[in-house]
Amino acid sequence: MKPITRNILLNPGPATTTDTVKWAQAVSDICPREQEFGDLMEFCSTEITKFVGNTADYATVLFGGSGTATVEAILSSVIPENGKILIIDNGAYGKRMRQITEVYKIETVAFESSSIEPIDLNALESLIKNTNGLTHLAMIHHETTTGLLNDITAVGEICKQHNISFIVDSMSGFAAIPVDMETMHIDYLAASSNKNIQGMAGIGFAICNKKVLESTASIPMRNLYLNLYAQYAYFEKTHQTRFTPPVQTFYALKQAIIETQEETIEGRYARYSKSWETLISGLESLGLEYLIDKKYHSKIITSIIEPNTDAYDFNAMHDYFFERGFTIYPGKVNNYDTFRISNIGQIDYKDIEAFLKVLKSYLVEIKFIQ
Ligand SMILES: Cc1ncc(COP(=O)(O)O)c(C=O)c1O
Repeated sequence: MKPITRNILLNPGPATTTDTVKWAQAVSDICPREQEFGDLMEFCSTEITKFVGNTADYATVLFGGSGTATVEAILSSVIPENGKILIIDNGAYGKRMRQITEVYKIETVAFESSSIEPIDLNALESLIKNTNGLTHLAMIHHETTTGLLNDITAVGEICKQHNISFIVDSMSGFAAIPVDMETMHIDYLAASSNKNIQGMAGIGFAICNKKVLESTASIPMRNLYLNLYAQYAYFEKTHQTRFTPPVQTFYALKQAIIETQEETIEGRYARYSKSWETLISGLESLGLEYLIDKKYHSKIITSIIEPNTDAYDFNAMHDYFFERGFTIYPGKVNNYDTFRISNIGQIDYKDIEAFLKVLKSYLVEIKFIQ
């Protein structure tokens, strides 16, 4: 296997991948209607489900598309015409869910919450109690905007108490932060192929409670490509997707799943956590502050307050790192000037140590430190 130049991606996905995942895409051409390819997709679907639930009660529906396609597939497909959804909005991705339900004219109640503090569960529950006809609740697991880890266990419990179907976007949590859909009362979980699962970009997946998904069969379709039940029913029958899948990306996903199984979700999170601890102590020693308190932190992405000096410029800093093999990411939070460093993908604490050395030399260059 020929080694491929390794870039250290510190953006929150697509992430640095192993060479084995990259090379898994170099396969003989194959028609995706062949059984061999159906078996491959079936493997991906089943094994993804097993990371978060049992295959008797849960199934993974696969889409060619980015993560947003899957979130849109869920939100546009599972809410009946007279349904009403509450969306927790504490960052850019909660806002995106609101945009989606607005486009589809789905009745929506927003629960706006601080982007840096935990959700006030009492306030949430009283809004639920005071809202008639609520059928669904959707939230982000890990708000990638900030690094805030939302308490999906507590919200799942509230949903169960109030008989509300629970939708979670775990795009940047899945495959690192352990999830058990059954005990957390999650009916639909959205994720994608290019973040913590460490595959290539291009496949989104919705892991669904089969019974709950099957009960949506009679909801009139609001779109064609993204209809969740139609995609599920067709795949169950044929082991094919209704439309052309990203063929080679599926081969990479299979390899990425195998490597995740070998490392285990817990093992992966332990590796990510060690990288994060290294990052945090390095930032502290360089005099840089970060947005989210350690107690509520995902340990996956860190929003760092930008150095307060005129010589600082994010684009210049980006280029400084890029020339040295590191890709860093801009901030995305209103009211705070931040940049973001993610520690997902096939990297470890030694890569973070190398990053911190470059950061130190950049900060010396702009005279933020001596
Ligand atoms: C929580 C969350 N939801 C949705 C998305 C959108 O994913 P994509 O950019 O693949 O559409 C992202 C991307 O970072 C995310 O972090």
